[in-house]
Amino acid sequence: MIEHLQDTTTLHNGVKMPWLGLGVFKVAEGLELVQAVKSAIKHGYRSIDTAAIYENEKGVGQGIHEALLEDKLPREKLFVTSKVWNADLGYESTIAAYEASLSKLGLDYLDLYLIHWPVQGKFKEAWRALETLYKEGRVKAIGVSNFHIHHLEELLQDAEIKPMVNQVELHPYLNQQELIRFCKDHDIQMEAWSPLMQGQLFDQPILNEIATKHGKSVAQVIIRWDLQHGIVTIPKSTKEHRIIENADVFNFRLSDEEMTRIDSLHQNHRVGPDPDNFDF
Ligand SMILES: NC(=O)c1ccc[n+]([C@@H]2O[C@H](COP(=O)([O-])OP(=O)(O)OC[C@H]3O[C@@H](n4cnc5c(N)ncnc54)[C@H](OP(=O)(O)O)[C@@H]3O)[C@@H](O)[C@H]2O)c1
Repeated sequence: MIEHLQDTTTLHNGVKMPWLGLGVFKVAEGLELVQAVKSAIKHGYRSIDTAAIYENEKGVGQGIHEALLEDKLPREKLFVTSKVWNADLGYESTIAAYEASLSKLGLDYLDLYLIHWPVQGKFKEAWRALETLYKEGRVKAIGVSNFHIHHLEELLQDAEIKPMVNQVELHPYLNQQELIRFCKDHDIQMEAWSPLMQGQLFDQPILNEIATKHGKSVAQVIIRWDLQHGIVTIPKSTKEHRIIENADVFNFRLSDEEMTRIDSLHQNHRVGPDPDNFDF
């Protein structure tokens, strides 16, 4: 049972990762970003998800450092994720990208470092670099993002260390059931990006019906659905009231029937690119 914003899942290497975190995709450097990160930490979030390509690691780092000081928290209480961008996939270049992310964030380690996209012919070499960083104790956990089952199978053929996490697009219109099963069988924690389908699910009638019944918002129902499925999630908001709202999901429970109704909304619909067909 997940009962608190700071509850964690234990990754296959024993590292604890919060079930719920803050995403900061498309939030530009500046005060709004710094305030969002600070406000999330002030309201109890312990996990922040960024990426080199978001070009906001500096502001994320500033928000983290200011929050740690103001809330009198040690660094170890936070779980910080970043991702290596496609252009940097390669052994030396991935290690250099990790160092660059650390330096922008002003941190001396990350809790989780992910391969952002499965660029064919490149991701295995990048994985070797992540394994080196992990074996040298420079990162607490390593994983992948946007990996289909066949990408994972290919990676696992040569991997010395299994990914601890796979972060993929996942919401009621793309419920990723097969991938969830595969990851469960391989002890890989699933993590949902764009859990709120980037704000495009708020008019969905069934989600509204369930939300009304619980006196909750559609966003809260979706986040609760992720958690009850054992999926880590990182909804993005820069608004303090929504940051609070998205974390206020520990005082209600979806019934099995409601979970099934939400599962059945699946229509294989993506808001982001298909990992089998992207050109960046
Ligand atoms: N690995 C990858 O390839 C990948 C790709 C995409 C995203 N991600 C990660 O996943 C995170 C989340 O995904 P996302 O940012 O694409 O989309 P999302 O979290 O599904 O949706 C964010 C949108 O919903 C709005 N929103 C948030 N909470 C709300 C609420 N309670 N009520 C109404 N509107 C609300 C936000 O607006 P306001 O900010 O105005 O509140 C924003 O427009 C990202 O920030 C990023 O960290 C990873």
